[in-house]
Amino acid sequence: MNKLIVAIDGFAATGKSTQAKRLAKALNYTYVDTGAMYRAVTLFALEQPPEGNLDFDLLNRSLDQIQIHFEEGAEEQQTFLNGLNVSQAIRDPKINQHVSKVAAQKEVRSFLSKTQKLLGANKGVVMDGRDIGTAVFPQAECKFFLTATPEVRAMRRYQEQVQAGVDESYEAVLASVKARDEQDTTRAYAPLKKAEDALEIEVSNLTIEEVFDLLYAQVSKQLN
Ligand code: DC
Repeated sequence: MNKLIVAIDGFAATGKSTQAKRLAKALNYTYVDTGAMYRAVTLFALEQPPEGNLDFDLLNRSLDQIQIHFEEGAEEQQTFLNGLNVSQAIRDPKINQHVSKVAAQKEVRSFLSKTQKLLGANKGVVMDGRDIGTAVFPQAECKFFLTATPEVRAMRRYQEQVQAGVDESYEAVLASVKARDEQDTTRAYAPLKKAEDALEIEVSNLTIEEVFDLLYAQVSKQLN
């Protein structure tokens, strides 16, 4: 059977992972959350002495000590950093604050994109991130780019965090979303941008169902 690489890129909190998970399930493909990988590296970096400080030289020299893998959980896919389940820890606002700086490091990007290429080597993957359609898999058969206004995205992230028991105001979440947009789109290496051949979907006024239907229809076209 013809298997594809599906790349879902876009801005933070546009529902990329929700869509990618559903699509992977519907197609019986593997889901790869590349944002979780950048978050895990950020957690690793913040845990190095002096704890809570980012030392990029030390991080770049320590990348070979980092092993990230995913396991299917009862409900959600779980992320492991050096054998420890860090799925909750990587969603902490402290990680949100620092992850863009870590993701701007050339060495970190090349380390993680190597792993991502291996994960997609046999195709049959839905990968979500910022540079999947542009840098990791420019040859992906199906590329999507999701956008929404910063306010819509901040409200979504805020509501998710409230549900997860994270104490952060909407204003702080909005500021963090805007700061990350700025850092992700202006970084020197593999900045967030739409691949020329990606289908752009503005999701602000669409339901999860409506977005999913658009994605699924496009993938089905490629499969036929
Ligand atoms: O999708 P997310 O919010 O979990 O991503 C966390 C950060 O990681 C985001 O600020 C940008 C970075 N990232 C990246 O640079 N490239 C990717 N392929 C995925 C995420």
